[in-house]
Amino acid sequence: MDRVIIFDTTLRDGEQAAGASLNAREKLEIARQLEELGVDVIEAGFPASSPGDFESVSLVAREIRQPVICALSYCSAEAVDKAWEAVKAAAHPRIHIFFSASDIHLSFQLNKSREEMLEGSRDMVARARSYLEDVEFTPMDASRAEPAFLYRILEAVIDAGATTVNIPDTVGYATPQEFGALIKGIKENVPNIHKAMLSVHCHNDLGLAVANSLEAVTAGARQVECTVNGIGERAGNASLEEIVMALKTRHDFFGLTTNIDTTRIYRASRLVSELTGFSIQPNKAIVGANAFRHQSGIHQDGVLKKAITYEIMDPKSVGIPASNLVLSKLSGKHAFKERLAELGYVLGKENINQAFQRFKELADKKREITDRDIESLVDEELRTSQEAYHLDHIEVSCGNHNLPTATVRLIDPDGRILADAALGTGPVDAIYKVFNRIVGVPNKLTEFTIKSVTEGIDAIGEVLIRIESDGVTYTGRGASTDIIVASAKAYINALNRLLASKAKAKEMEEAR
Ligand code: KIV
Ligand code: ZN
Repeated sequence: MDRVIIFDTTLRDGEQAAGASLNAREKLEIARQLEELGVDVIEAGFPASSPGDFESVSLVAREIRQPVICALSYCSAEAVDKAWEAVKAAAHPRIHIFFSASDIHLSFQLNKSREEMLEGSRDMVARARSYLEDVEFTPMDASRAEPAFLYRILEAVIDAGATTVNIPDTVGYATPQEFGALIKGIKENVPNIHKAMLSVHCHNDLGLAVANSLEAVTAGARQVECTVNGIGERAGNASLEEIVMALKTRHDFFGLTTNIDTTRIYRASRLVSELTGFSIQPNKAIVGANAFRHQSGIHQDGVLKKAITYEIMDPKSVGIPASNLVLSKLSGKHAFKERLAELGYVLGKENINQAFQRFKELADKKREITDRDIESLVDEELRTSQEAYHLDHIEVSCGNHNLPTATVRLIDPDGRILADAALGTGPVDAIYKVFNRIVGVPNKLTEFTIKSVTEGIDAIGEVLIRIESDGVTYTGRGASTDIIVASAKAYINALNRLLASKAKAKEMEEAR
């Protein structure tokens, strides 16, 4: 088989990244994008871990029809049953069971013997198979487990009905040579391995997740588990875009293909960054802002003569917009809509109209509107169109001889106008105090960052904040040419998410 199955776990392992928290609607939006991208499997979540996860796996299972929808499960009857409940509405459901296989985990964390692990794994795979045909099993911490024991586990779970066996480098410890040898060893020593798909799942603690995954593919693995932008637990998972583009760009070396429409990579990357609140480092391979920028004169000269001199991939092949055509206040709706389509946005009529309105307002303040400006204002439109509380009016007074004061007017979910004013240590503090007084939900600001979207003094400023309430983190974003307004929008965005999540939790509690 010369095709590599792309198993995307952005919504599960990706969301385990500290500070990432996605609600069910956002997970569905990402799942839609992943479907467009052409991933084969979407791991939608871990139903036994929380009612919220159960809910979002069920939603994705109901709505997304093309890829396999996978639910992760502990190796227990209760968790397997929950995974099945959550995923059974999918057109192509999968249950993915994991159990630690290394002695380090078995003795120090779980206090279980190898035999108990083996028996439990076999039983739970058989239980899952009684519900559905597609069952994956992961011996967790496989790269630190004893290979002979690993072979026994794999043989047993395949006999019990596992259709995919996944070898994880859970703590990102393996080197490419070791990991490739492990896969080769499995192929040579597990007698029934040909009856299952051999998968790998690598973490990036030593920056080797992509290299390890590619080495495993060379050694015969045919499913790779990865995430968009490489987000995930600790240092993250193998990055989907890097694996896919390595296989594509070096087809001469690997001789393997994927089902991914690579021109959709850029949009997927932007969406995941926007919704998780994790910015992409400029030098990030494939999707970083500098990935296709040539700074040195020699390189620029080469690229102008023939792109191949210093460019191994065409930026268009990953969906980076072809033209840097700049729009201005004279640009009409038609040109704006075309630009949106080129940037990969699929918006309804109402969102397009609202975004165009925002574009016109921005064009009055800013002479040239670039792609990054458009992305920023459309993301802002998509964010705020779902919000319960809206910012109606904001006024601040501050300066080195002033007491910073903010006056704010919000519109609540019932359309009522709520106004208040407060003093603060600075204008942002004053605004946040007013919001907290109006909304009345205790929370703590844990992160506040501001950056400009483009160069130039008239640039849009984007504010990203995180707030914490009852141990849960909520991200908020806001954009405006006025950074105080952007800060206010970011806070109201985070508060809206907090309120929506608490309302959802209450609704689920009452339904139980
Ligand atoms: O890293 C890991 O081992 C995992 C498993 C649960 C697949 O995420
Ligand atoms: Zn993992």
